[in-house]
Amino acid sequence: MREHFEIRAHDGAARIGSLTVPRAGVDVETPALLPVVNPNVLTIDPSRLRSTFGVDVLITNSYIIHSTDRVRERALEEGLHDLLGFDGAIMTDSGSFQLAEYGDIDVTTAEILEFQHAIGSDIATPVDVPTPPDVDRERAAAELETTETALADAAAVDTGDMLVNAPVQGSTYPDLRERAGRHAASTDLDVFPVGAVVPLMNGYRYADVVEVVMGAKRGLDPDCPVHLFGAGHPMMLALAVACGCDLFDSAAYALMARDGRYLTVSGTEHLEDLEYLPCSCPVCSQHAPADLRSRGDTERERLLAEHNLHVTFAELRRVKQAIRSGNLLGLVERRARGHPAMWDGYRALLDHRGELERTDPVSKGTFFSVSADSPSRPEVERHHDRLGRLTVPDRLLVTESKPPSDHDYDAVWRIRPPFGPYPPALSETYPLTAEVPERPDVAAERAAAEGVARLAREHAHASVTLAHDDWDPAALSAVPEAVELEDLSRLGRSNG
Ligand code: GUN
Ligand code: ZN
Repeated sequence: MREHFEIRAHDGAARIGSLTVPRAGVDVETPALLPVVNPNVLTIDPSRLRSTFGVDVLITNSYIIHSTDRVRERALEEGLHDLLGFDGAIMTDSGSFQLAEYGDIDVTTAEILEFQHAIGSDIATPVDVPTPPDVDRERAAAELETTETALADAAAVDTGDMLVNAPVQGSTYPDLRERAGRHAASTDLDVFPVGAVVPLMNGYRYADVVEVVMGAKRGLDPDCPVHLFGAGHPMMLALAVACGCDLFDSAAYALMARDGRYLTVSGTEHLEDLEYLPCSCPVCSQHAPADLRSRGDTERERLLAEHNLHVTFAELRRVKQAIRSGNLLGLVERRARGHPAMWDGYRALLDHRGELERTDPVSKGTFFSVSADSPSRPEVERHHDRLGRLTVPDRLLVTESKPPSDHDYDAVWRIRPPFGPYPPALSETYPLTAEVPERPDVAAERAAAEGVARLAREHAHASVTLAHDDWDPAALSAVPEAVELEDLSRLGRSNG
């Protein structure tokens, strides 16, 4: 039982939770995004992060503070919160990033943790080794052992009520990620960042991000709060939350603003290329692109950074609402359509449908919508899975239209692509309450046809007739020979 994390709502592997940060006296609602604040370059004043953007936790780098004399002395004297002018919770990173960039740093885990404690950090980080993607297995395994030693060193430091991160490494080897997750969860550390995914995200390798996260999640316990280190682009938040990540941090809002880049939920645009601003945040409502371009560098950078944060937090709220509505996969799918690399990530996510299902509440209060040309979704699979458990009479009509008023079947069931057949008694139960398009496309018809095949296979005694509304031959080819077909459009009985 992780005493600082409570899960309040689930949708698949995604959750809304609450992370208690005792040293800050703050409860952080998750999913949460921690803006990265560089203590030497305050693009946006941290106090404004709180007042304008509602940020209650940010992240900064203790190694930068430690290695800049003037800032280090101030941090030790005044504390981090006064130094930054931020009264929420502050997470500090350790210098592992510098380790990955420059190969060497001059502090140990014990030293940097004690320093983080001394400057008043609320959530600290040991010196893990962010092994890059695609290295050979020996290196990934050896560096993982170093990270595991760092976690043990961290656990041995007296950190009072400061929470401590237990980063999960293992490069692009899902089984090493799993082992790392299991080890991290066995310590009494508090928050579990999945590390070294920045190079994957920079390369738009979202399918690999999903594999790495799902590997780590298999090793971690379901009640571990999971942070995706260095992830915070609005385009991928829904996907990462759907994998079961709870915390994110973003330097992108500021770094991108520095070179004129404008974040959207379907990628990154260049201010130079925009004639219109496709956003309703305060910055975009009050400025035209030419106006932003004409500002001085500092002001343009601040305005772009503000827009970048507005879109990011708006997306985060949308993600949370989608979890509450039981509709997060629908949002992930929409985001996947915005960018090809995201589509690969979405497919990879659906490959793990079984794992997502394990935490998905079977009954949800509200509808979700499926757009019909999706790869198969857990809800459809689950409906098909239960067909075997239903009682089926000898002569069954499965129809896409209203049941005919007189017939000699033993029962009439309905079918609505992409869902397979169902008895009328289930029509008001989840997921059949979903809104689906009036005109299903071939993939949806095909999924429904596979449901008919499943029904016929599981209940071989029954003689089944399928009355469909002009389904595509490619979909109908999934229906076994033994099922009799009627085309409602030919019978003039469609649109029921
Ligand atoms: N920031 C981005 N990735 C990482 C990581 O793997 N480890 C640490 N400590 N910080 C990071
Ligand atoms: Zn905007």
